[in-house]
Amino acid sequence: MNLKGKSFLKLLDFTPAEIEYLIDLAAKLKAEKKAGTKHKLCEGKNIALIFEKTSTRTRCSFEVAAYDLGMNVTYLDPTGSQMGKKESIADTARVLGGIYDAIEYRGFGQETVEALGKYAGVPVYNGLTDEFHPTQILADFLTIKEQFSKLKGINFVYMGDARFNMGNSLMVGCAKMGLNFTACAPEKYFPNKELIAQCEEIAKETGATLKFETDPKKAVENADVIYTDVWVSMGEPTDVWKERIDELLPYQVNDTLMSYAKDTTVFMHCLPAFHNLETTVGKEVGEKFGLDALEVTDSVFESEKSIVFKEAENRMHTIKAVIAATLADI
Ligand code: CP
Ligand code: NVA
Repeated sequence: MNLKGKSFLKLLDFTPAEIEYLIDLAAKLKAEKKAGTKHKLCEGKNIALIFEKTSTRTRCSFEVAAYDLGMNVTYLDPTGSQMGKKESIADTARVLGGIYDAIEYRGFGQETVEALGKYAGVPVYNGLTDEFHPTQILADFLTIKEQFSKLKGINFVYMGDARFNMGNSLMVGCAKMGLNFTACAPEKYFPNKELIAQCEEIAKETGATLKFETDPKKAVENADVIYTDVWVSMGEPTDVWKERIDELLPYQVNDTLMSYAKDTTVFMHCLPAFHNLETTVGKEVGEKFGLDALEVTDSVFESEKSIVFKEAENRMHTIKAVIAATLADI
């Protein structure tokens, strides 16, 4: 497998074998790190991390992964560069591509990260756009593989707003890797028809199935994994909260929903999660609408079925695999 020089912009650009390779490389790098074995595969290389939206996991994962690989890091925060404001994406890409060996970008439209990838001349990594969050899916799938020792045939249910980055990317990931994907929400929250059609074509090759269900009980009956994400994503206006709560509250992951699933079913979430009122946004929205949790209750989040912190740790190991595979001679 040779991914050297390649950008990681969306899972649609990768074959199932390449995705599997990245997940398995992450597992190897994780085991090595736990054993105290150094793996400075990219010694002396430089990476720029551009964040036009905030981040905890993705930023820290890219930084620690890069340091573990022997690299140097520059972090550009949402106000810290000329990009888009005084300099076009194409110009920024060529400037940074001349200085750095790789660029990570988190922002709004997928077209921005695609443009960076087109002009930079070095690997560009998508750290989240409105449309896709591909490094998150690698971490999710490594976690599922650790839990169930396989990906193919796993019944994966996504509850909530499936039209945004997480729903889209998880559907693509499941189609590519042969998981049975169900999106469960009111119909307007299903991914767009073109993406569904593309995933259905992929699924024909891999044996995956795709289902779109409005009844939460039916959706989770045979689920191995129940996954959810926030109902309002970064960059969306706050005045959509009322509509989202009205429409998505029946799809909240709570003890009743988990009781319809199997004893072995696990709960996953890309995080951050509004499972209590201990955040500024959670408190404000929760108090306004009389709720003590939003997309997932505290009881599910804190239960033994919840594997969200293993999943969060795996962000770092999988991002390290992407950097190593695209920059190092391995
Ligand atoms: N899951 C995820 O991308 O988290 P951050 O927004 O903290 O990076
Ligand atoms: N859908 C969320 C994912 C955060 C990791 C957002 O875009 O805010």
